[in-house]
Amino acid sequence: MKHLLTKKSVIVKIALVAFVLVFLAHQLTYSPYNPYDFFQNGRKGIIPIKAFFDGLEKYAVHGDRLKGNYINEKVHDAPSKDREFLYSKEYLEGILNIKDETFQKLKESHHGFVNEHMPHLLDTVGVATFGELTPKSDKWESYRNSAGYVLIGGGKYSWLAYLVVKQIRMTGSTLPVEVFIPTKSDLDARFCNEIMPKYNARCNMLDSSLLEYLSLKFNLSGYQYKMLAIMASSFENVIYLDSDLYPLKNVEYLLTSDLYKEKGLLIWPDYWSRTTNPKYYEIAGLHVPEKKVRYSQYDRAQAEKKGEGLRDLKDYTFKDSNFHDFENTLPNPTSEAGVMLVNKTSHVRTLLLALYYNVYGPNFYYPLLTQGGAGEGDKETFIAAATVMQEPWFQTQKQFMWVGYHSEDTSKFESKALGHYDPITAKDDDKPAPLIFSHCSYPKHWTDWMYNNNDLIYKTSGEHIRMYKGTYENIGYDLDLRLLTAFTEALCEDIWLEKEKEDNIPLDQREEYMGNFLEYINNDREVNKKRCEEVYVPHLKWLQQTTQYPDTLKPE
Ligand SMILES: *[C@@H]1O[C@H](CO)[C@@H](O)[C@H](O)[C@H]1NC(C)=O
Ligand SMILES: *[C@@H]1O[C@H](CO)[C@@H](O)[C@H](O)[C@H]1NC(C)=O
Repeated sequence: MKHLLTKKSVIVKIALVAFVLVFLAHQLTYSPYNPYDFFQNGRKGIIPIKAFFDGLEKYAVHGDRLKGNYINEKVHDAPSKDREFLYSKEYLEGILNIKDETFQKLKESHHGFVNEHMPHLLDTVGVATFGELTPKSDKWESYRNSAGYVLIGGGKYSWLAYLVVKQIRMTGSTLPVEVFIPTKSDLDARFCNEIMPKYNARCNMLDSSLLEYLSLKFNLSGYQYKMLAIMASSFENVIYLDSDLYPLKNVEYLLTSDLYKEKGLLIWPDYWSRTTNPKYYEIAGLHVPEKKVRYSQYDRAQAEKKGEGLRDLKDYTFKDSNFHDFENTLPNPTSEAGVMLVNKTSHVRTLLLALYYNVYGPNFYYPLLTQGGAGEGDKETFIAAATVMQEPWFQTQKQFMWVGYHSEDTSKFESKALGHYDPITAKDDDKPAPLIFSHCSYPKHWTDWMYNNNDLIYKTSGEHIRMYKGTYENIGYDLDLRLLTAFTEALCEDIWLEKEKEDNIPLDQREEYMGNFLEYINNDREVNKKRCEEVYVPHLKWLQQTTQYPDTLKPE
């Protein structure tokens, strides 16, 4: 009996030690999902991400960089519906100072990329989609028709991404989310390991040796991470969202729409006129004949001035018409690209060329496509690439809603966000349509920005403001209350200290409080307490007390 007892306690001890060891090993070796592992584990039918970059430097352009290199000054910014300013071919050719030698290099490199490198990737390497899987992989069948959201996080961006993920779930969408973390130092391991899985989300990283290779060889940063995030994602169909761009309702229906099936690339419009340098079309091998195919508001204004009707399209010339009304050009308005839906298989060529445009974007293709105009960056690279590769795309026709409020302090409309419409039903600028996204870019929901500009929340008289009021009727809930609730719960520890009195859960065990999980929040604890006390918590209380939409916080 005694003997047996000892044996039992030995077994218990061994089991305990084994458990602790397994637990520790798990903690030590756990790393977020890493697609590159597939390859390193020797899996079949995998093309490592590095292969998309091998040999790419052969098509680099070594001429004078075009960024900021103007003959006189950057391009004039006018709204796409401007009636006065003429973006003629001659005007648009006179902005960037493109030396003939640089132009020839750009043209040769572009031609080489499209006609040598791309066929090499597709036919020799065996690229079948904009990612690492091929039909030879046993994962291919489950990859086909998969879909999910892709965001970019890392450091303070993981904070914004978290708020967007919360809203994705509030809309009732259940598709998985991948938050791409561009650099290892910005990982926030507890956030990735403990918080993300609760939302059917995960952090996605590249192998650190691959990151090193990419940053040494191609100096990737900023906008360029979007291509990497899409490429590294495990979904065939990607809903890409900037980390300050919130879906306002469940947008999964877009993926099964005929529009998406037919086009495979959906994007949303910006406000500004297209200011692409005509030389870009020559570089890309797109011939633009002097054949006008559409009218601008400029044409209508001119006709009115002369008391005439619009002339026949064939009677216009490069001299008296907007260049981007001619055949083979990209139409107005420009794109916003903070949100994009793309099928990585049907649009593999488009994405490969967009990758090229983005790798050589900051110095060459961003300036060529925008010439210093508003929001210069990756935004035009997607429809430009699709146009060159002759793959379909669709940009929502109704432009967008300026979301904001009329300020009594400044006596003008203060714009805080762009509301994007449903691409399927929003055909006409003059007719109402459902809003489905809000790009909350001014202010972004940084903890300091919202606080330091609390005139965004309060009038000078001390009264509160609803920043996003213009959307409520359209979407059927109170967006200010919705977003500030998630924000305040994640930021303000005093809310939880108060709650602890009721449920005895200590602050450091609160999953809702991001001070436990994100350095960005934890590093500023004392300051955040003050911000919460002075601004965020009182504002939230006011929003709660005055809302016209009591169901705002019920998930859909
Ligand atoms: C690398 O990228 C950074 C950020 O865009 C830029 O400031 C820097 O000049 C680039 N370096 C080179 C060598 O292109
Ligand atoms: C994505 O593209 C592939 C290849 O063209 C096609 O077979 C598939 O049906 C597309 N998926 C969706 C959801 O449209």
